[in-house]
Amino acid sequence: MTTSAVVDELLDRTIALGYSRVGIGFRQRFWPTPDSDGENLAGATVLVTGANSGIGRAIAAGLAARGATVLMTVRDRSRGEAARRDLSAADPDADLVVERCDVSAFADIRAFAADLSGRHSRIDAVIHNAGVLPAQRTDSADGHELCLATHVLGPLLLTELLLPLLAAAPDPRVVLVSSGGMYTQSLDADDIEYQTGTYHGATAYARSKRIQVALLPLLAQRWAGRSVTVAAMHPGWADTPGLTQALPGFRRLFRPILRTPEQAADTAVWLTATTPTPPSGQFWHDRRMRPIHYLPTTRYTETTLEQVWRYCAGAIGLS
Ligand SMILES: NC(=O)c1ccc[n+]([C@@H]2O[C@H](COP(=O)([O-])OP(=O)(O)OC[C@H]3O[C@@H](n4cnc5c(N)ncnc54)[C@H](OP(=O)(O)O)[C@@H]3O)[C@@H](O)[C@H]2O)c1
Repeated sequence: MTTSAVVDELLDRTIALGYSRVGIGFRQRFWPTPDSDGENLAGATVLVTGANSGIGRAIAAGLAARGATVLMTVRDRSRGEAARRDLSAADPDADLVVERCDVSAFADIRAFAADLSGRHSRIDAVIHNAGVLPAQRTDSADGHELCLATHVLGPLLLTELLLPLLAAAPDPRVVLVSSGGMYTQSLDADDIEYQTGTYHGATAYARSKRIQVALLPLLAQRWAGRSVTVAAMHPGWADTPGLTQALPGFRRLFRPILRTPEQAADTAVWLTATTPTPPSGQFWHDRRMRPIHYLPTTRYTETTLEQVWRYCAGAIGLS
């Protein structure tokens, strides 16, 4: 292992340093991953959820700067239009289209996917970035715990419905924006909806982010038949409206070292654009593959994983 690889791993394990702007600063300086010539997305259409704010907005800007047509998918059209205006003012060449979909609501997702399929013949990538950390237990329109619905069930359903459009692209990719918080949680196949115990939004959030990552190998296998690759990444800690609202104390404490949304977006943009295509089913941070466990307590069996998958697949009506 090279010295920089050792330092990189140490940064990851200290958490605060690795996830902050210190981590990405070190990695970009000492372990650069140059943008490949292939990072040109001209002609590609990419869909980014939660694109009106924070990291999603920065992902949209980064992909548009590489020439993609970006479908800025938002739950509130006026917030989406405001973000699009700002991004267009900063980059007049950016090709940005606002699309409306609540990614926690199955009926909305079905209608949106049907509408998109009527207007597009191909989608090159889907970036599932939309995220929530609710203060109290909230159920989605379909009666699922909101983090599970927003981070897992909605993205699964939307991707499944868009598979024909993805399969029509030459190198289709799916990217899930997860969180380093998932390292604290295992899978609980008996309480996937978090119905027992006192509800804590941060725990619900981290559990759902763990499920995103845990399902990666199954999704990679499932979608390989359509040549669709899937990756999950975690952005580190970034100063975004979402962080300010959900964790104000954390933000006050760590503000000087929080990443910019652009730094947090970097790996998602890179995973979408880089060539050759990154291997499917992996978890990434700062353009490197990362382990999915650091704690022995978060490990789970194949049986548990299979149970969680069956539950999620059943919830969205997959056979
Ligand atoms: N910031 C961090 O330090 C950090 C760390 C780890 C992971 N992440 C992850 O990064 C992603 C982006 O977070 P952020 O920090 O940029 O937060 P943010 O500023 O709150 O952005 C979240 C975006 O998701 C959208 N959204 C939420 N629920 C939605 C739904 N049901 N349908 C459609 N859009 C929905 C929000 O729309 P509205 O504006 O309409 O609410 C907003 O555009 C999330 O997945 C988050 O979990 C962030």
